[in-house]
Amino acid sequence: MSTLIRNIGELVTNEPGVGEGPLGVLRDAALVLDGGAVAWVGSTADAPEADEVLDAAGRAVLPGFVDSHAHLVFAGERAEEFAARMSGQPYKAGGIRTTVARTRAAGDDELRANVRRLVDEMARQGTTTVECKSGYGLDVEQEERAVRIAAEIVDEVTFLGAHVVPAEYADDPQGYVRLVSGEMLAACAPHARWIDVFCERGAFDADQAREVLQAGIKAGLLPRVHANQLGEGPGVRLAVELGAASADHCTFLGDADVDALASSETVATLLPGVEFSTRQPYPDARRLIDAGVTVALASDCNPGSCYSSSMAFCIAVAVRDMRMTPDEAVWAATAGGARALRRTDVGRLGEGARADVLVLDAPSRVHLAYRPGVPQVAAVFKAGVRV
Ligand code: NIG
Ligand code: FE
Repeated sequence: MSTLIRNIGELVTNEPGVGEGPLGVLRDAALVLDGGAVAWVGSTADAPEADEVLDAAGRAVLPGFVDSHAHLVFAGERAEEFAARMSGQPYKAGGIRTTVARTRAAGDDELRANVRRLVDEMARQGTTTVECKSGYGLDVEQEERAVRIAAEIVDEVTFLGAHVVPAEYADDPQGYVRLVSGEMLAACAPHARWIDVFCERGAFDADQAREVLQAGIKAGLLPRVHANQLGEGPGVRLAVELGAASADHCTFLGDADVDALASSETVATLLPGVEFSTRQPYPDARRLIDAGVTVALASDCNPGSCYSSSMAFCIAVAVRDMRMTPDEAVWAATAGGARALRRTDVGRLGEGARADVLVLDAPSRVHLAYRPGVPQVAAVFKAGVRV
């Protein structure tokens, strides 16, 4: 079954050399989706026939959002913690343990339903690729269950056994690092593509994080790091040292961190929803982009530091408060996310790409930042199938 989308007012292809500017924008464009992939891109006047036709009526069309950072395998919520923060309490990594207790007590079906609910919520808002981390189980059986359930539902699964040290290892953090790098990794690696560590004061230091990530690399996983979220620290430089696909958060950076990122292939994944929801300062996207760092935007959807799944919201905040241009933010939420996941089939709309398409109910991609909080999704296709 093929689908022709015609009369696209502006088509963001993210294809270098196609159309206008870095987003490769085509006007009066059309797209044919066939067999789950983009089969043809061109002008409406030249468009071939297809089984189904969608008239975009001058709307903007872009690649589905690539949300490269989310924690969806959990039970319960932490609205009270959020309310306390808004009355002046600081965000602390230790809040993770609240969700660990609730998650451990949940049945498989409850966890599965939670992931499904959030992935569906994301899809309705235009997100067509989702990365999902474990990290609320923190023992061998629970972490294995988390990555296994995530792998049933999302494209990209990350083993985050090193999220925090669980209460039962409070007196023996090194023993927990050994468990994560040994038995837990062996149980989780078959279900995951990525390994992640929360490298931060209150979670894991550089040596512990390196030990876990190197064990993961040896087991065939690819590294990514939660880095420099709550203060300056070694996370970003460790990510670069190990050739991580992404260093995520990057809120507190010294010049050496920016230089390290700029001279590497490691993407800086910024998560503005976290700073919004924790009242922390926003990361300095302008400084990173001007230094030549590749920047991605992601939601970090999780019950603690940011319970929003909206990539449009991330774009609006990044433009308003992080001095990104609307085009930089749109690129970061699509092609940037694909880079952070080392994917070449998503985050772009060229022939052969996966047919992940967001038809905006607006004439321009700028409306994503220009009309914050307003639902603007006209249609979403995931691998060619309308969501
Ligand atoms: O990315 N920083 C560590 N992990 C999550 C927060 C998880 C939580 O608070 O439950 C984050 O912000
Ligand atoms: Fe996170």
